[in-house]
Amino acid sequence: MSASSLNLTMIGTGYVGLVSGTCFAEMGFNVTCVDVDAAKIAKLRDEGVIPIYEPGLKELVDKNVAAGRLSFTTDLASCVPQADAVFIGVGTPQDEDGSADLKYVEAAARDIAKHLQGYTVIVNKSTVPVGTGAKVEGWVRGVNAGADFDVASNPEFLREGEAVGDFLNPDRVVVGVENARARAVMEALYKPLTDKGVALHVTNRASSELIKYAANAFLATKITFVNELVNLCDTVGADVLSVSKGMGLDSRIAPRFLQPGPGYGGSCFPKDTNALAKTARDHGVTLGLVEETIRRNEAIKEGLAAKVAKALGGSVKDKTVAVLGLAFKANTDDMRDASALTLLPMLQKAGATVQAYDPEAMEQARWRLPEGNGLAYVDSTNAALNGADAVVILTEWDEFKALAPAMLKGKVVVDLRNLFDPAAMHAAGIAYTGLGRPQAE
Ligand SMILES: NC(=O)c1ccc[n+]([C@@H]2O[C@H](COP(=O)([O-])OP(=O)(O)OC[C@H]3O[C@@H](n4cnc5c(N)ncnc54)[C@H](O)[C@@H]3O)[C@@H](O)[C@H]2O)c1
Repeated sequence: MSASSLNLTMIGTGYVGLVSGTCFAEMGFNVTCVDVDAAKIAKLRDEGVIPIYEPGLKELVDKNVAAGRLSFTTDLASCVPQADAVFIGVGTPQDEDGSADLKYVEAAARDIAKHLQGYTVIVNKSTVPVGTGAKVEGWVRGVNAGADFDVASNPEFLREGEAVGDFLNPDRVVVGVENARARAVMEALYKPLTDKGVALHVTNRASSELIKYAANAFLATKITFVNELVNLCDTVGADVLSVSKGMGLDSRIAPRFLQPGPGYGGSCFPKDTNALAKTARDHGVTLGLVEETIRRNEAIKEGLAAKVAKALGGSVKDKTVAVLGLAFKANTDDMRDASALTLLPMLQKAGATVQAYDPEAMEQARWRLPEGNGLAYVDSTNAALNGADAVVILTEWDEFKALAPAMLKGKVVVDLRNLFDPAAMHAAGIAYTGLGRPQAE
């Protein structure tokens, strides 16, 4: 099976589907990306407009569309019959009870079923709870009893902001299959990566499904561990960055995900930790550490407004607060479960006037947190700083790292990403609070 002879359909053209589909095309496969969002598909197909902010993606989409390997449609009938593999990359948002809501996965599975022809591997790339592969099998079988197919698990580990690089040069690829036939297709799909030395971890479907949740819950716990250390560092005069560095130099610990911040957010960690804890409870098992991580992270986010108030001498009432950064991290416009969604309403409620700015997430912010009631969106860092009593740095965009101290003069700075050196800020006469950094005298 060579790349050019394999046809792929990617259902769901969001962060994961669009990046994965484009990268598979870049690897030489013929890929059709499908979405129910007709406007999104029309813009991609007719105008080459990328619906998300993801560095490097536009160039790769244009290149592969021009090469005839990548196309976009809303019509499953035009691509599923000839597909060797159909990926499901739709959203799995959090349901009210904390579990992953599988309604989009189910709808996609049933839609796919109608159009299956010849042997096809249906691949769950969405993050789905253990046991979902079997459910997909049942949904497909229910619509098309005679279909010749297998369901594989292939969780995605890409990070927004680095998604293209992560997909093409991953630490590992995880595949869960129940038989050799599906395994052969999955191995062929990832051959361009395994040929260059990427590790392919093939396991059974349940293990593969669990690996994704276990990995995310572990990383969320690691971040929360260091976020909690901040409080102790603040109290005993230790520098959390130095503590993290000292910890991370131990190869058993490793340095990444040891940088403190305003609590984890985004499209994955919050919902995946909740879904893992719920899956465990459903099976009569308590994952106490994961449950506590979820609670601690919420507490960290809810404590941010008090930190700002403390820096302003006890209250934010009638103060103007510039908030720099709204996305849950830099290099993305994703605001799902971003700390801004907790902090901004708390500042507004406490009587502050908030002037918020993000280089990419303004559109996302406007519908999630409507303007008014003391919240104004502005179109530049300068406009946010204009007349502000306090500056809260919430997202680690390069643009904010490059801020000249002179621009912050006379303002109280609450740096929730530790972008600046407390001593340098102090020397510049700026009232500065970082996370777990000793205050310069
Ligand atoms: N965003 C990430 O960084 C990331 C990383 C790894 C894994 N994941 C997982 O990947 C999955 C997708 O996440 P995302 O961030 O790409 O979501 P997203 O919301 O950006 O995209 C999902 C897309 O699926 C489309 N869709 C929904 N139902 C459909 C259907 N029946 N047919 C066709 N299209 C349909 C939606 O219109 C949307 O465009 C989730 O399970 C998520 O947990 C996300």
